[in-house]
Formats: sequence, C-alpha cells, structure tokens
Amino acid sequence: MSMVIRGGTIVTADLTYEADILIEDGKIAAIGKDLSGDKVIDADGCYVMPGGIDPHTHMEMPFMGTYSADDFEFGTKAAVSGGTTMVVDFCLPSPDQSLLEALQAWDNKSSKAVCDYSFHMAITSWSEQIFNEMKIVVEEKGINTFKHFMAYKGALMVDDDEMFASFSRCSELGAMPLVHAENGDVVATLQQRLLDAGNNGPEAHAYSRPVDVEGEACNRAIMIADMANVPLYIVHVSCEPAHEAIRRARQNGKRVFGEPLIQHLVLDDSEYANPDWDHAARRVMSPPFRSKLHQDGLWNGLASGSLQVVATDHCAFTSDQKRMGLGDFTKIPNGTGGLEDRMPLLWTYGVNTGRLTPNEFVAVTSTNIAKILNIYPRKGAILVGADADLVVWDLKASKTISAKHQVSSIDYNVFEGMEVTGLPRYTLSRGRIAAEEGVVLAKCGDGEFVPRKPYPAVNKALSKWKEITAPRKVERKAENMPAGV
Ligand code: URP
Ligand code: ZN
Ligand code: ZN
Ligand code: ZN
Repeated sequence: MSMVIRGGTIVTADLTYEADILIEDGKIAAIGKDLSGDKVIDADGCYVMPGGIDPHTHMEMPFMGTYSADDFEFGTKAAVSGGTTMVVDFCLPSPDQSLLEALQAWDNKSSKAVCDYSFHMAITSWSEQIFNEMKIVVEEKGINTFKHFMAYKGALMVDDDEMFASFSRCSELGAMPLVHAENGDVVATLQQRLLDAGNNGPEAHAYSRPVDVEGEACNRAIMIADMANVPLYIVHVSCEPAHEAIRRARQNGKRVFGEPLIQHLVLDDSEYANPDWDHAARRVMSPPFRSKLHQDGLWNGLASGSLQVVATDHCAFTSDQKRMGLGDFTKIPNGTGGLEDRMPLLWTYGVNTGRLTPNEFVAVTSTNIAKILNIYPRKGAILVGADADLVVWDLKASKTISAKHQVSSIDYNVFEGMEVTGLPRYTLSRGRIAAEEGVVLAKCGDGEFVPRKPYPAVNKALSKWKEITAPRKVERKAENMPAGV
C-alpha cells in the first residue's frame, strides 16, 4: 500500500519547500506536487522533517548494581512518541567479556524495539581477544563506532594506553572512537574527599565532577585521537572547557565531533540544590548539569557548528533505584531519561526562541549524525530512495511535560512542568505510522537493526597527512658532515 503525505512544508538540513511525499515499500518513492497514493496523511500547516536520530541511549543497561528501567520496548516507544525514529544504543561488555558475547545479549534485548536501531560497541578492557574481535565487529556486525569511558573508575574506565591502542585499531579498521570524557581518577578522589567531609547528598555528585575534569579529559582524548590518526566523537559535552577543546581542535583541522544533551541545554545545576532529596537524586547524571553560562556556550556551539548533534543519553532509573544512593551519593545510579522530550524541547527552546533555524534543528537532531555514523542518506534525509522515517511536525500543538502522560516506564520526568510548543502529529517509521499525536501505534519487533559500514575516508585522509608530515631522518652527504665521522 502506498501513502502520501500531503500539504506540508518539507524541512531538511538545507532546504525548505512545499511538496508532497509518496511512500512505497517503506521508502520515499517521489517528492512533488499533487501526488496521490492509497492512503493520505494530512500535513496541512505542518513541517515534514526527517525523523529524529538519537545516537546515545542505554536501554536495560547493567550499571551501578542495577539495570536502567526503560528496555528497548519502552525506550523506543518513548522515542517514536516524541518524533525520534532511530536510536543508537551502547553494547556494553563487562570488562574482559568477549565483544561478540555482549553483542549477542544486545541482539536479544533489542528484538523488542519498535523503531530502527543500531549499536556502538564499548571497549571496557584491552586484550588480544578484544583487538581481534574489533575487526569482526566492524566487518561482520555492522558497527563502526567504539565507545571509551574515561570515567567510572574500577568499573568501565579505560586508561590512556588502552585508549591509544583501541583508537589505533579503530584507525586501521575505518571505525571511529567515542569517549565519555571525564578524568575518572580525579573524580574518584574528589568523591572520597566529599564523603569523608560528610558531604553525601546528591549535590555532592556535581561537586565531584567540576567542569575542568571534563575539559582535561576532552583535551587528552583529542590528543590521543590525533596521535592515532582517527576522528573522534565526544559524547555528552556539558561545559565550556570541553566545548573549547573541541572548538580549538576543529580550528586546528582535527576531525572532532561534539554531542551536547537536551538535558544540559535546558536544565542547570540549581536542580541539585532542591531541598527534596528525590528531586536532586533523579537528576544525577554524568557529567552533571552545569550553570547557565555553560548552557549558553552549548547553544552557541550548535548555532555556529562547533557542536553538531543533540542526544539524550536516555538512561532512566526509577526513584527507588535512585534511592540506592541514600547516604552515599556515589551509589546513586547515574542517568536521566529524555527520549520522548528531546525534539519538542529543542524545538521550543531552540527554534521558538530563534537560537536555531528549523533547518539547523533538522541538522542537529538527524542529518549530521546520519552523516557522522555513515547511514546517510538512508537515514536523516528526505530524498527519493531514503527510508521513510519522517515526522509531521505540528508547529502550534503544545503540552506541559508530565510523568503522568509519559511513555517511559519511570515514575517521574526531569522536565516535569515545562511547556513545549511544536509536537509531532505523526511519526513514520519506514513508512508505517509509529505514533499519532503522541499515541504509540508501533509494535514490538517493528524496528530493525541498521548496519553501518566502516568509513575509511576520513581515517585514510588523516593517515595520509600524517605520513606526509611524519618526522624524517635528514640524509646528509659526507661533504656536509664534520671531518672524521
Ligand atoms: O550518567 C550517565 N550519563 N549515565 C549513563 C552512562 C553514561 O555515562 O553515558
Ligand atoms: Zn594501563
Ligand atoms: Zn557517559
Ligand atoms: Zn551514556
């Protein structure tokens, strides 16, 4: 059955124009005026944009003695209800676990997904086996990105020599490393000092992770990526020292990408001063929320292009799970939700305030990451032949965010009470209506794994430049040498 989206204004990362879209077999079959099909979707007065891609989620993730509460069913249902049509989750081997074994576990969990998904593979330890399996992961399993945690000492953290080895392997394989950039050694010491001083509430989580701890790690990761001739993607960039490191690297010709989260763009560190323990603990995530000054920097980075992608790091824990850290903030599971609210919040606080254009909104929610992850134009585009992952965006629709009406399975929402204007009327996942006015119609198993090919072009370019500029021995003739040598 064919379908036509009629009467809308198409908004892509680079164009805005009025046209209908014909969908056949889950793909965009034609774009033009007065198209007809078996079923018609009314987009009158709406923008039609590429569905959102959230490149940073943790569904049912084993972490800090528990599992994140939203699994692939609730997580992806939350996604489509808010206009997101693809998520990229982190496959997380426990240290020394085989990457392939962990991938099997993620394959099993993700079979419930209602929209398309892909995986990043985390490198949580280093060995010959991991080195060998990385090749299989890239060449046979459709994964071209590897995540490294510079924080969470004693759990997921890797140190510099492990990162350098893994980044170098990424370079050989045409893959890209990702980093969670915080200096885990310093964080661990600051945590202990705070606890020793009796500072055990959720606000101490923020005190233990100052902005320079993030900035230092960003600079270090950028240097290591440069030495390994590989591009670098820095997740959840939250502050100016980190942004500054990325900006400087890019100005110096390095291929470094930065991903702020919607949480850091709209919430600030005053949340941790809330007298209600639960309120503050629910907002414990790493890096923590920052002051308004840093927030403005992130918005400016999105507008100017020094930051490219807005994600959620959706890692939802219930209030009961957060209470594992009563009396010791280091035991509060780190993470917050955001999948169903990312697009409406970014529209409201970005486009409706003039900080972003609608085209920039599409770029940072979909197209840029599709290009970075090498799935463009199958995803992130409105072009003939692309997957019909689309959102029909009602500019006038509004709501107040509340846990009472959310899809996510947890009992609160960190954006509770915030008003948003601009909501999806329809979310289409490969041509199927996955959600209508927030109501999820998609079913478990509707989602498919999206394989991502290696992308050696940037890595080759970096290696070539390194080869040309490598230190070389100066060959001197005998007549130019001191006598007697
Ligand atoms: O606090 C966070 N961000 N939790 C999820 C794991 C991570 O660091 O991305
Ligand atoms: Zn080491
Ligand atoms: Zn992280
Ligand atoms: Zn994360």
